Amino acid sequence: MPNHVLITGASGNLGSEVVKKLYDSGYGICATVGSGDVPLDMAAMLLDARQVDLTDEAATQSYVEEITGQYPGLRAAVLLVGGFAMGSISDTTGAMLDKQINLNFKTAFFVARPLLKHFEKRGGGQIILVGSRPAILPKAGKDMVAYALSKSLLFRLAEFINEAGKGKQITASVLVPSTIDTAANRQNMPEADFTKWVKASDIAEAIAFLLSDTGSTLRETVLKVYNES
Ligand SMILES: NC(=O)c1ccc[n+]([C@@H]2O[C@H](COP(=O)([O-])OP(=O)(O)OC[C@H]3O[C@@H](n4cnc5c(N)ncnc54)[C@H](OP(=O)(O)O)[C@@H]3O)[C@@H](O)[C@H]2O)c1
Repeated sequence: MPNHVLITGASGNLGSEVVKKLYDSGYGICATVGSGDVPLDMAAMLLDARQVDLTDEAATQSYVEEITGQYPGLRAAVLLVGGFAMGSISDTTGAMLDKQINLNFKTAFFVARPLLKHFEKRGGGQIILVGSRPAILPKAGKDMVAYALSKSLLFRLAEFINEAGKGKQITASVLVPSTIDTAANRQNMPEADFTKWVKASDIAEAIAFLLSDTGSTLRETVLKVYNES
């Protein structure tokens, strides 16, 4: 039985580790990137790789309909697209809010909406969203308000999916990383203790667990992957 998953943001710091982990675990992977190219070493691990601007609702809907038509067994999506911006309430303009909501929320919502129709038809499915600690901890979010607000919508979206999915084997989980140990974060915070951060490969392991037979039985999961930071 083919075990097909969709991964968005596949070329990112986290995406590339998730692709590796799920490929090694035997999944057939459909993946999207934004404006960049699919890394060459990753392309060989993917059944289908595309550039899709997931802030474009119509393009995203067509894409999801196409891959679910091609892979009707597709049973999960790991929605990793997101981005960060600093700014307190007084710094945050409407344009900054729109940008963060587009990037962090709509890129997930526009995939989830047509995908949930597919899950209803096939009799179940799983969506994994990536939140962030500033979205649930005001102390961490007060200086990154647009980012925190946009990520907080993902927690609400998961609740709605879980409520609507009851009795239908449809679930949503939210994974909450602290600071991920990436080259960009090391460059931006050179004084930090990197050993306290969380490795992208550990988050990938957590995602693989959520998709496993045991993980699939969890409901309304919010998984905090903080390590010591
Ligand atoms: N890094 C951290 O410390 C941290 C902490 C907490 C939560 N997170 C969350 O974890 C997730 C992954 O983070 P990351 O560090 O791996 O991010 P990343 O390296 O910046 O990767 C972002 C990915 O999203 C894609 N993307 C960006 N805009 C897009 C668009 N409009 N349409 C489609 N794809 C688009 C990018 O593709 P292109 O490069 O081709 O545009 C890339 O594949 C994000 O949701 C982030 O908010 C990260």
